[in-house]
Amino acid sequence: MLAQRNLFTLWLLLLLHVSGSVMRFNLFKQSERNPVPQEGDVRLFGGSVFEGRVEIYHEGYWGTVCDDGWGMAEAQVVCRQLHFPGAKSVVIGKNYGKASGPIWLDDLTCKGTENHLFTCAFTSWGTTDCSHKEDVGVICATTGTNMTISDSTHSLDHSISLSDELGQIFDSGNGCDFLILIQSATGNREEDGTPEMVGTTICTHKIILSQFPLFNASEGITSITVPISQSCQPHFTSFIRYIYTRKVDVTFSSAQCLHWMAYTFGVKQLMEDTGRLFSKILPEDPLFNTQVSLYEYAEETGDLVLQENCIQYLAWNYENLTMSPAWTHLSVNLLGSLLTRSDLVVPDEYFLLQTVESWITEKGNTTSLETQLDLLNRIRFPMIPAETLYDLEYNSSLYSTHKNMYREKILEAFQFNVLLFSNLISNPKFNREDDHFQPRFYTTKPWSTVIIPNQTSSHFQYGGHRGYYQTPTKSLSTPVHNSLIFNRNKVNWEASVFKNQYECSNRGMRCDSLPMARLITYNHLTDQSNITFRNRLLLMCQGKYICHVQDFKANVAYVNGTQVLTYPCPDDQYTYRFVVRPEYV
Ligand SMILES: *[C@@H]1O[C@H](CO)[C@@H](O)[C@H](O)[C@H]1NC(C)=O
Ligand SMILES: *[C@@H]1O[C@H](CO)[C@@H](O)[C@H](O)[C@H]1NC(C)=O
Ligand SMILES: *[C@@H]1O[C@H](CO)[C@@H](O)[C@H](O)[C@H]1NC(C)=O
Ligand SMILES: *[C@@H]1O[C@H](CO)[C@@H](O)[C@H](O)[C@H]1NC(C)=O
Ligand SMILES: *[C@@H]1O[C@H](CO)[C@@H](O)[C@H](O)[C@H]1NC(C)=O
Ligand SMILES: *[C@@H]1O[C@H](CO)[C@@H](O)[C@H](O)[C@H]1NC(C)=O
Ligand SMILES: *[C@@H]1O[C@H](CO)[C@@H](O)[C@H](O)[C@H]1NC(C)=O
Ligand SMILES: *[C@@H]1O[C@H](CO)[C@@H](O)[C@H](O)[C@H]1NC(C)=O
Repeated sequence: MLAQRNLFTLWLLLLLHVSGSVMRFNLFKQSERNPVPQEGDVRLFGGSVFEGRVEIYHEGYWGTVCDDGWGMAEAQVVCRQLHFPGAKSVVIGKNYGKASGPIWLDDLTCKGTENHLFTCAFTSWGTTDCSHKEDVGVICATTGTNMTISDSTHSLDHSISLSDELGQIFDSGNGCDFLILIQSATGNREEDGTPEMVGTTICTHKIILSQFPLFNASEGITSITVPISQSCQPHFTSFIRYIYTRKVDVTFSSAQCLHWMAYTFGVKQLMEDTGRLFSKILPEDPLFNTQVSLYEYAEETGDLVLQENCIQYLAWNYENLTMSPAWTHLSVNLLGSLLTRSDLVVPDEYFLLQTVESWITEKGNTTSLETQLDLLNRIRFPMIPAETLYDLEYNSSLYSTHKNMYREKILEAFQFNVLLFSNLISNPKFNREDDHFQPRFYTTKPWSTVIIPNQTSSHFQYGGHRGYYQTPTKSLSTPVHNSLIFNRNKVNWEASVFKNQYECSNRGMRCDSLPMARLITYNHLTDQSNITFRNRLLLMCQGKYICHVQDFKANVAYVNGTQVLTYPCPDDQYTYRFVVRPEYV
């Protein structure tokens, strides 16, 4: 587990590393499209994400740095410029592959506090008596600690039969009739001005590749050229071998490349499965950059599984998202999609309105009035308590800008609050299917309560000679419905988390697996026949993020093993949040 956590951290840093000084970034776009480097940019070449030969961009060329005067202070500047916390060590005399460009910097002296390598003192650009043998490298620190790098392997196996035989055919290359030329740009230009490329060739069989039309392996075509980022080049052979065998070992560091290749060549199953791996890393980024950029990448590649995984995480953890640096950079599209979701976890609907208003205000006049209206229209005003609605005119920052919309919404919400649903639905405005009359997952009183098993008297106690657990239990009282007319009509609930069989049998219950959460009411709800309760159990991991949401079936929800979790939670340290959700039916 520890190795895996380190790995997650590494992967996260890998994502952050490319982020640049603004918080928005996109690893995927970066690696595939080689955005134009800027004067003075640095990169690490030929190693890994956090290690490599130091190269600096000047006058249109990537060049190296000579080892004269190279030390930790200089390495610190490079690593910090690349958004690592710092340097771990300097590397001298290691061959990170052929360097052909200029040697830009020599006799370099940094204080160690500079933000850019080129602001350190050095002779002058390109003035040097060094050879490429003296090029320097660095290993950047990926966390504050000396972590060990590991990369666990996930084997994907979609094979049916003949997988091994087909693998052998690919490995041997016998009878191959279709060449794939893989090419990566180094970022420099040849003397004649064309981009310098490095690459290899793989010989394949047309009949195998023709299953995927995007390879163009059809009659009359004998080769294709595939442009690919240098970091993905080593994984291309595994990708092609997958086309033969339908098996591949995926690591977190190869997942991004495999996903992109699968997308490029329309290999849907591989794309979806590697996309699922990404879901495991979502909780690791408290800054929410990973989740947001993965969502955008998924949207762009049409990977609906990945897209849903990202947006669901954002919906469940919406409150933290609004406090993160990624918040003000959310696209209109993403915010709009979040606002349509019923599984948005928020204290209450008014909180949601306030966050949207502040998002719009922060964006200033960059969002059009139509866009603002479109976003505000997705707020479920009927879910806002009547007394808060009454204050909106004075408390809402956008009321005066969108007076008509607010007035109309507030009126509609008041109608909802004072009329029975059976009256409302005779009005075409109140569509039964409309989500605006259904609650989201509200976490404030009275709709929700929390049980933290260790804190809520779950300790082992000794009564006489007999040990027993006291099942943590909380009670809460909610109205029968969010609408004001039901305000005095209360339901009493009992929420508990069962952690051992003894307690289950003590209560005369059968617990099929443990832990088991129960949310039960003894009130008779039959006279509210048009209201039903769709309550939810939210599992919060280590008090930090929501990793799972579950329905109650016959008042109980089983929480068994990490395999059921939507997002991983180390050590299964859950906080149980019970949410009561009445809906008109
Ligand atoms: C990392 O390792 C180096 C040497 O191996 C040691 O000097 C340094 O204190 C370690 N740093 C941490 C944070 O453990
Ligand atoms: C396949 O052919 C189309 C149309 O000629 C072309 O646009 C595309 O780039 C080709 N794909 C590859 C991988 O060469
Ligand atoms: C938006 O605001 C900026 C500065 O507040 C101003 O310079 C610009 O003209 C405004 N643009 C529009 C379209 O109102
Ligand atoms: C509206 O603002 C007033 C004064 O700032 C405050 O007393 C009141 O509680 C606010 N109403 C809501 C619903 O937040
Ligand atoms: C909570 O209880 C479990 C066993 O019931 C124990 O393993 C765990 O360490 C406890 N956690 C805390 C934070 O006390
Ligand atoms: C979890 O579920 C599996 C099968 O669904 C069952 O075999 C196992 O005993 C359960 N674990 C606990 C602790 O109940
Ligand atoms: C339930 O709704 C139907 C119409 O949808 C209405 O005829 C009926 O009276 C309602 N029942 C109650 C108890 O409100
Ligand atoms: C979310 O916010 C809570 C409260 O501010 C904080 O304790 C928690 O660590 C945050 N979670 C993440 C993943 O940042």
